Amino acid sequence: MTVRCDFAPLDGITKVVFRRVWHAFFGGVDRYFIPFFSPTPQHILTPRDRREIDPANGGDLCQVPQVMTCRAGDLIWAAEVLGDMGYREVNLNLGCPSGTVTAKGKGAGFLARPGELDRFFDEVFSHVKVSVSVKTRLGIQSPEEFGRLLEIYNRYPIACLTIHPRVQKEKYRGEVHRDVFAAALAESRNPVRKFHAA
Ligand SMILES: Cc1cc2nc3c(=O)[nH]c(=O)nc-3n(C[C@H](O)[C@H](O)[C@H](O)COP(=O)(O)O)c2cc1C
Repeated sequence: MTVRCDFAPLDGITKVVFRRVWHAFFGGVDRYFIPFFSPTPQHILTPRDRREIDPANGGDLCQVPQVMTCRAGDLIWAAEVLGDMGYREVNLNLGCPSGTVTAKGKGAGFLARPGELDRFFDEVFSHVKVSVSVKTRLGIQSPEEFGRLLEIYNRYPIACLTIHPRVQKEKYRGEVHRDVFAAALAESRNPVRKFHAA
């Protein structure tokens, strides 16, 4: 069995300089996930976003950019821009538990609206040309919410599902729900990736 090591994104910490220094001094990582950027309503990349995702700044690192949005048009736009830069996979952030993010219905906040999430994926997967992977929580309040979410994920060709087996309200505290993670491993039609931080 081949074990692949992915570098988890930490917003504000694992920026491009951090990733390059890690790679030069420690290595041991196959793919670096870039912390999320949120597309602007005007669909313009800010200088900060561009600095993080420009492949020229990443040197020889194998990287996967991450996008945070609850609008299909934003992800379709971002996937096209990132595809033009040479990326073959885009990761959608459905895991961020921060109140400022979830109040806008983004990150883990999107998990509160499964019907809308289903329509979002329907539109996204009928347009995008690059692979789309997803980072998800188990739900908002209770891990039991994950059954409905997994049913939705299973309907789409998600390149890989990274599961952080906590719900949004648990933020980063407490034991993870290993039982739900094990069930998801067995029931996911898409490949599942483990969640550990670097
Ligand atoms: C400060 C901080 C920033 C994070 N930023 C992101 C991010 O941009 N995208 C993302 O998918 N996950 C992000 N995460 C989640 C981590 O990638 C990882 O999934 C999580 O920390 C795993 O839980 P653990 O810290 O309990 O092991 C962040 C976590 C922390 C603590």
